[in-house]
Amino acid sequence: MTTDFQNWATDCQAHIEAFLDTRLPAVDCVPIRLHKAMRYSVLGGGKRVRPLLSFAAGELGHADKACVTIVAASVELIHAYSLVHDDLPCMDDDVLRRGKPTCHVEFDEATALLTGDSLQTLAFEILTERKLTDAPQIQLEMVTQLARAAGSRGMAGGQAFDLDSVGKTLSLPELEFMHIHKTGALIRAAVMLGARCSNHLTDEQLSKLDHFAKCIGLAFQVIDDLLDTEATTATLGKTAGKDAENNKPTYVSILGITQARELAEKLKHDAYQALDHFGNDALRLRQVTDFIIQRKF
Ligand code: IPE
Ligand code: IPE
Ligand code: MG
Ligand code: MG
Ligand code: MG
Repeated sequence: MTTDFQNWATDCQAHIEAFLDTRLPAVDCVPIRLHKAMRYSVLGGGKRVRPLLSFAAGELGHADKACVTIVAASVELIHAYSLVHDDLPCMDDDVLRRGKPTCHVEFDEATALLTGDSLQTLAFEILTERKLTDAPQIQLEMVTQLARAAGSRGMAGGQAFDLDSVGKTLSLPELEFMHIHKTGALIRAAVMLGARCSNHLTDEQLSKLDHFAKCIGLAFQVIDDLLDTEATTATLGKTAGKDAENNKPTYVSILGITQARELAEKLKHDAYQALDHFGNDALRLRQVTDFIIQRKF
């Protein structure tokens, strides 16, 4: 990873952290326990990959950074909600997230449920409260896109498929379907919402970006599966080996480590190809892609 990318990513991460900090209700605001749990689950952790993708896609279209910050925060709030629910005993039953006890362990299950609910609605509150593009119709489409990405035809649907797959051996198309939904959908929204803050991109360019986003969305979860097997709990900040323990079909359980790694590289290659058209404007998107594939946690 280059120093230039590292500095850019650190700036973006600090920027999104500061914005989320101002938008999450204060801890002295009632109901105090819920607001504490919301801030606990969002602030001070995570790689912020989805915001990085929104910022990189925004830069490609020379979009207004204040607008991109809003879409980046909305996607990150949905992501944080999905993690809080993913860790619940009725789902993956995990006790560690981002190096800290999971929300339901630190607080309680009911609070974790309500934290997820509240983070999800806060995402839409932020996304709809001010003008983000010159055409109101585009902003409406962005709201629809995030809602679909989060819902039963996106992340929540993928999670349902994941739970239904416990103990089963999935075919490769089934596994791809699951990963594209549970993880890919939000990553795709992060890229596309960032790009749509720009008024300059053509439909053809947006469709190339969409293809790019589909490739890295799937690659992201392939790497997540690999890290679950290859990395340690200390490095990950979440429990390693949890997929095997929970009997989940993953790219590692179906393809093995070597072929899963090869698939991630192939998806990276396809993602790069989709960006060819953009030349140097896509530098940041290529760098975030490298980060997604090479990451150790
Ligand atoms: C973990 O996502 C859950 C998946 C969708 C695979 P991240 O690896 O982006 O988690 P944080 O935000 O960095 O904690
Ligand atoms: C989670 O997938 C996808 C979500 C929608 C949160 P995982 O269950 O593999 O995520 P981790 O490994 O717990 O972060
Ligand atoms: Mg899960
Ligand atoms: Mg999990
Ligand atoms: Mg995982």
